[in-house]
Amino acid sequence: MRAADERVLAPFGRRRCEVVANEASGGYRVVSAMDTSGPAPRAGQFYMLTADGWGGPNGRPYLPRAFAVAEAEAGPTGVRLDFLLDAVGPGTERIEALPLGAGLHVTGPLGRPFSPPGALSPAAAGAILVGGGIGVATLALLQRELSERAVPQRVLLGFRDRAHAGGLNLFRCSEVRTASEDGHTGHQGYVTDLLAVLLEGDDAGSAVVYACGPPAMLEAVRDLCAARAVPAELALETPMACGFGSCLGCAVPLRDGGYMRLCVDGPVVRAEEIETAMVAGSGH
Ligand SMILES: Cc1cc2nc3c(=O)[nH]c(=O)nc-3n(C[C@H](O)[C@H](O)[C@H](O)COP(=O)(O)OP(=O)(O)OC[C@H]3O[C@@H](n4cnc5c(N)ncnc54)[C@H](O)[C@@H]3O)c2cc1C
Ligand code: FES
Repeated sequence: MRAADERVLAPFGRRRCEVVANEASGGYRVVSAMDTSGPAPRAGQFYMLTADGWGGPNGRPYLPRAFAVAEAEAGPTGVRLDFLLDAVGPGTERIEALPLGAGLHVTGPLGRPFSPPGALSPAAAGAILVGGGIGVATLALLQRELSERAVPQRVLLGFRDRAHAGGLNLFRCSEVRTASEDGHTGHQGYVTDLLAVLLEGDDAGSAVVYACGPPAMLEAVRDLCAARAVPAELALETPMACGFGSCLGCAVPLRDGGYMRLCVDGPVVRAEEIETAMVAGSGH
């Protein structure tokens, strides 16, 4: 059963937003742009991004790229959108290099956001947020939304190594527990080790889990939650060409047969909806 969907609909067309900040955040970068005419997004939603000169004589990338929104702050001149980026290819490299005043072109907000804890379980008394790598981006806005709703949260973030870690400054809570495979921060090991410990305690009966990260991490989260009957929502990634349902490039198999288009039926999915979180072509 799908929980209530409080998505914010994107205005028609693409908007040029001015880059107002571009700062390092650990091994990642946060690129911020002022959206003067779009609505504030919900946590879990994403934007299709291009930039000035995209796909021009300099070649790749030709298609827009999908990015979760990590923070969205409404002010007198519009909504400031923060995107957390890990440079893995031509699109992320070009966006990361944008100077102040350059144009970031956005289509969005798109997709289905995270559901409130009460929509996942009437018994929910708190939320556990589990992020891995660049997947921590979408959880930062969720953490703020949950704080505004006075939902108690525990935040668990895991990283491969120092070069692939960042975004901690986007979380506005006092307690963030970290894990890293190289041991540079927090527990040496996987973030799912931390989740397993929490779910051994009282949290299993009263918490809901929200997760975003690489496919193997999401699959481990799915397994842990299924074994303890803990409701969970996972924000998945697939390659996306359009972002609004027309190219069918983002199909993900459903557990009960058939497929969903991740861009319109996700990217946030209920853990029990899908056959596996090991989605082809996702993760980096
Ligand atoms: C809903 C959603 C939200 C996302 N949010 C974020 C975010 O907040 N921050 C972020 O940094 N990224 C995010 N991503 C991921 C991002 O959109 C992709 O990584 C995107 O493809 C990067 O574009 P690129 O041009 O830089 O790299 P690409 O050229 O698209 O390459 C991306 C990755 O795929 C690999 N790759 C490329 N081609 C092949 C191939 N033929 N075979 C095997 N591997 C290949 C590359 O080595 C690289 O690791 C999100 C994706 C989705 C769907
Ligand atoms: S990305 Fe085109 S249908 Fe989903």
